[in-house]
Order: sequence, then structure tokens, then C-alpha cells
Amino acid sequence: MSAWSVPDDLADETVALRAWHGTDAEWLCEGFNAPEVVAQSEQAEDLKVDSPQTAYEMVFEAARRARAGAGIGLAICRSADREPVGSLELDALEGSHDEAEIGFWVLGGCRRQGYARAAVELALEWAFGPLGLTRVWAEIDGGNAGSVALLRAVGFHESNGVTLPPSMPTRRTSVVLCTEPRGFSTTSR
Ligand SMILES: CC(C)(COP(=O)(O)OP(=O)(O)OC[C@H]1O[C@@H](n2cnc3c(N)ncnc32)[C@H](O)[C@@H]1OP(=O)(O)O)[C@@H](O)C(=O)NCCC(=O)NCCS
Repeated sequence: MSAWSVPDDLADETVALRAWHGTDAEWLCEGFNAPEVVAQSEQAEDLKVDSPQTAYEMVFEAARRARAGAGIGLAICRSADREPVGSLELDALEGSHDEAEIGFWVLGGCRRQGYARAAVELALEWAFGPLGLTRVWAEIDGGNAGSVALLRAVGFHESNGVTLPPSMPTRRTSVVLCTEPRGFSTTSR
């Protein structure tokens, strides 16, 4: 399995994506602990980001996973000044390493400015291009209509009728969405 690494210039006019750095620990800790983000993830079990120290450890674990081709943690930065505004993760599905699950959040004060949508679109371009993934999945809390709308806008659809990979985790209260194979028709630009 080859390492996952994003190019230095992965950016558009709105956002730039880069791998998490150790220096991101403070804002990652803040973001992962926002109540709306906690509600979206089951981080309590396997990813306890409850202090800058545990966020720092998560960054280094993410770097190890990226070297192993198992996933990547990316900072979503504002293109204008490269300030971090959010985070996006892609995790390869166990037993199906050319498919991945996506998760993302934007810091409270930076929402509704198009950062998440731009970041997801850019991440998909990279994932279906140089990275060579064949499909990306998302599991969204059923009450999170905004995220479902965002994902639909960039080409995801409900997974009805598509066989879920065995390792795709699902909760009863969630909606599972996926792209078309290789992201065909994912971009609306
Ligand atoms: C969901 C989230 C990532 C959106 O980030 P964002 O940068 O504000 O999103 P964008 O500005 O790119 O929004 C793009 C579109 O998504 C939809 N959308 C985003 N947030 C929405 C909300 N709260 N309510 C309704 N629609 C919403 C809208 O269609 C929006 O377009 P518009 O602003 O032109 O109407 C952010 O609210 C967040 O971090 N939430 C908590 C974590 C989470 O739910 N993550 C997603 C699941 S893993």
C-alpha cells in the first residue's frame, strides 16, 4: 500500500488542504470538542481528543496512518492567509483500501463561508485523481440536514441500493451517503 500524501499546492481560491502539523494541536482540540462535532463522531471510543496533548498524539498517529496508506488528517486552511478554519479526514475502509470514509468540520466562527464545501470538493479531486480511490462514503447523523445538503451538492447520494463495504461503520440513527464509483459526476464546477 502506498503512502497518502497531499501535494504542497492542493488549493483553490477558497481553501488549501495540508496534512495536520503538531502545531495544530490547540485548534484541533477546540474543533473536535465542539458539541456539534462530538455529536457527529464516535471519537469517545477510539479517538479521545480531550486535550492539546491528545490532539498532538492524534496528529502523529494520523501521520503514521498516512505513511501506511490507511488514511489522512488534513487542515482546511483559508486560501487568503492559510489560517486553519477546519479539518477533514479520509480513512481507508478496512479490507477495501481504495474506498474511504470522509469526515470534516469547520470551526464555529468560520461557518457558512463555503469552506467545507470547497474542502470536500478539493479532497475528492485529489482522492479520485492522484490518490486513486474508487469511492468515498460518508456517515452523517440523521438530524444533520445541513451536512447532507452539502454532500448532495458535491455529488454524494444516499447509499440505497449500493452494497455497503463490510467495514463501513453505521449507526441506526445515521444516513449513509456515497459518491458514484471514481467520483463520476461528483463535481458541480
Ligand atoms: C457541516 C459543516 C462542516 C459545514 O461547514 P461550512 O463551512 O459552514 O459549510 P459551507 O459554508 O461550505 O456550506 C455549504 C452548503 O452546505 C449547506 N449547509 C452547511 N451548513 C448548513 C447548516 N447549518 N444548515 C443548513 N445547510 C447547511 C448549505 O447548503 C451550504 O450552502 P449555502 O451556505 O450556500 O446555503 C459545519 O457546520 C460543521 O463543522 N458542523 C459540525 C460537524 C459536522 O456536521 N460535520 C459533517 C459531518 S462529518
